[in-house]
Amino acid sequence: MAKIIQNGTIVTAADVSRADLLIENGIVTAIGSDLLRLAPQAEVIDAAGCYLFPGGVDPHTHLDMPFGGTITADDFETGTIAAAYGGTTTIIDFCLTVKGKPLSSAIRTWHEKARAKAVIDYGFHLMISEITDEVLEELPAIINDEGITSFKVFMAYKNVLQADDGILYRTLLSAKEHGALVMVHAENGDVIDYLIRQALAAGHTEPIYHALTRPSVLEGEATGRAVRLTGLADSQLYVVHVTCEEAVRQIADGRLEGLRVWGETCPQYLLLDISYLEKPDFEGAKYVWSPPLRAKEHQEALWNALKNGQLQTVGSDQCSFNFSGQKELGLGDFSKIPNGGPIIEDRFSLLYSEGVEKGRLGLSQFVDIIATRAAKLFGIFPQKGTIAVGSDADIVIFDPTVKRVISSETHHMNVDYNPFEGIAVTGVPVSVLSRGEFIIRDQQFVGTPGRGNYLRRNKFGNTSDSLSEKG
Ligand code: URP
Ligand code: ZN
Ligand code: ZN
Ligand code: ZN
Repeated sequence: MAKIIQNGTIVTAADVSRADLLIENGIVTAIGSDLLRLAPQAEVIDAAGCYLFPGGVDPHTHLDMPFGGTITADDFETGTIAAAYGGTTTIIDFCLTVKGKPLSSAIRTWHEKARAKAVIDYGFHLMISEITDEVLEELPAIINDEGITSFKVFMAYKNVLQADDGILYRTLLSAKEHGALVMVHAENGDVIDYLIRQALAAGHTEPIYHALTRPSVLEGEATGRAVRLTGLADSQLYVVHVTCEEAVRQIADGRLEGLRVWGETCPQYLLLDISYLEKPDFEGAKYVWSPPLRAKEHQEALWNALKNGQLQTVGSDQCSFNFSGQKELGLGDFSKIPNGGPIIEDRFSLLYSEGVEKGRLGLSQFVDIIATRAAKLFGIFPQKGTIAVGSDADIVIFDPTVKRVISSETHHMNVDYNPFEGIAVTGVPVSVLSRGEFIIRDQQFVGTPGRGNYLRRNKFGNTSDSLSEKG
């Protein structure tokens, strides 16, 4: 049935306006006033006092992923339900390939993980664990047939996922030729590997050494290398999970020179700092990400970079492991702590509360960072990432006055802690629609697992204005 959302304030990356929305067959079909004239039978939803945001697009999740000798605590059901509660209606998850096996078999596996479980729409990036001639030959078919138009290359995780510079360069060339965006995990894995071995040999086993063996200069160095190789290849690059001033500077320099490079940061780097890794009783393990949390001064650099456009997106890097039994794999050896944390649910609210509410970001800028820019860069705009006639009716009805405190007691992720425990946020997604259907109604989940659709994404630079997104 048609729906009309009345009395809300529509916010897009371009503007803020008081208007009503007509939704038919999952699509926004009119924006204006007196819409009952067009659809007299429509269900009317009152959104007075609320913002209508496009559903969040989270470009960086790891659901149901084997990593560090275990498997993430959230799968496509718990993870996407939590995302929905948090106002995210689209994710792009990393399909992990297996060394020696064709890429297509990993993609099949990821479809099987998601199909019956996802409650929101989803696409895949490919996370390439080993890049060989065969893999490079398979890429064009993956781009054209599967609609997977972005690939992550690792400059860290030596002997596990790390690619050398030659491989990164060849991937950049291939991406340029076939219309894909290369994503990079930029840390100098060789030096980190040495620092880790040295720390362990000296008997330093606690979580804080995870951060101390991955200094920010090594992220800055790898980011600069990736940016320069992108320039040489005349290709395009998206730097995931940027944590520090050094890396921001490299991306900003490249962009000033006109290179096609973009950067993502994550809520954990904006809000938490290295001191969390020093929590006693191994609790520091809850705060182990790669790259690691940094000294506090980097947070201001990241906020400034978002504000002035040097960084363009905020992903969650959702990669949840229980403290009990999973993070604990690293008791006695920090290098065995599974990396990652549960963020998918709170990404949207944290960025609103810490960004808009605290005066660091404007409303339209918030929408650009949380939804629009990722949709453009990853080939799903304007189907996703905006509120416009013809776009999917993925809408967050957001009450900016309600306050809540983040806690693992009340979150919906399948994990036994929340890294933002006790942090108060202002603003909640009261109701969330995905393709015109309520999936959250009055803060209750009303969707069904398996309703999420797979998104075949457009090639980089092929749609709308992904290339005009350089500004
Ligand atoms: O610590 C992190 N980021 N875990 C997830 C894997 C990755 O590198 O994105
Ligand atoms: Zn990474
Ligand atoms: Zn620094
Ligand atoms: Zn990640």
